[in-house]
Amino acid sequence: MIQLGIVGCGGIAHAHLTAVRALVDLCKISVVFDEDASRAQAFAQEIGTDAKTASTADELFAYGIDAVIICTPNHSHEAYVEMAALYRIAVLCEKPLAHDLESAARMVHMVEKAGITNMVGFVNRHQPGIIKMRRALQDGVMGNIVSYMEICSGARLANPEIGMEWRMRREVAGGGAVADFGSHSFDMSTWLLEPLCGPLTHLMGNVSTFIPRAGSMPTNDDAAMLSGRFASGALMSVLDSRVGPGFYRVEIIGLKGFMTFDARTPQNLDVHLYDGSTYEGPIKDCTEPSFVGQMRQFLSAVSEQRPADPSLARGLFVQRMIEKVRDL
Ligand SMILES: NC(=O)c1ccc[n+]([C@@H]2O[C@H](COP(=O)([O-])OP(=O)(O)OC[C@H]3O[C@@H](n4cnc5c(N)ncnc54)[C@H](O)[C@@H]3O)[C@@H](O)[C@H]2O)c1
Repeated sequence: MIQLGIVGCGGIAHAHLTAVRALVDLCKISVVFDEDASRAQAFAQEIGTDAKTASTADELFAYGIDAVIICTPNHSHEAYVEMAALYRIAVLCEKPLAHDLESAARMVHMVEKAGITNMVGFVNRHQPGIIKMRRALQDGVMGNIVSYMEICSGARLANPEIGMEWRMRREVAGGGAVADFGSHSFDMSTWLLEPLCGPLTHLMGNVSTFIPRAGSMPTNDDAAMLSGRFASGALMSVLDSRVGPGFYRVEIIGLKGFMTFDARTPQNLDVHLYDGSTYEGPIKDCTEPSFVGQMRQFLSAVSEQRPADPSLARGLFVQRMIEKVRDL
């Protein structure tokens, strides 16, 4: 039974709780910490088992846990990764890895020096339809790739009544949508296409901020439209937006056909081939929700004391792309 600690008891901590509940035979949340003690207490109660509330971060790390999940705003990830390295505790850190490149690079150095299992939360890799999509690409079903198109978005913040949040402040979050949603997009596009198309050699785009919050503008972007090209010539077009439409969709077009993943039906992969043939693929019984799949892989790396994938080094790779476009 792997004992977990959670730092930061807000929105995404609840997604991890759902995953832990699905894997009760493998792990439990033993202790939680939040700088807002009332949030930590409410979360511990919600967990409902014997989860403790630590009154300091040190107390959490000294508790005897095997792994920690970092669910705090981006600029605070580094401090907790540093503690995990000090206490030699495995770490799953939420994305984007950090609010800037220097912080992300220090984090990778710390975990590699400490030799701890480390993973970054690029959870969309674990969507069942995306697992099928990657396999279809490996099987050469699409032929040469023409284009990768993605919309990665949320709709909650399209509501102008919602006031200023930490994620709208550059000094805390780094980029806006280009970091929050773009971290998923940069990982996904390169993870899927680079094995076939070589590296992403060209990247450009535009960012915009639309909605004032409680009378002042956010200091980072609400949306980013990105365009790129891989070494093979395959083209990339991505919209990352926190102001709608609120869905996640990936479409890949090749010379033999096209395929679409839409997270509203996460187990499906829609494949259309121009010669009229069908592709079912060998992956049939893959239905696990993405946060459960991610947690299962993390726990297996922790129990076998081996590197996890995607590691914090992958988070740094993605951070470089965020930095390249966030000030366009
Ligand atoms: N994987 C995903 O798809 C996904 C989705 C949403 C958020 N995230 C990431 O998760 C992280 C948290 O985002 P969220 O939406 O849950 O935020 P949130 O605001 O809902 O929750 C953050 C929590 O951290 C606490 N906190 C703030 N600073 C802290 C500190 N220094 N030490 C301890 N606690 C602190 C807050 O009190 C709050 O309870 C971010 O890095 C975000 O990008 C990932």
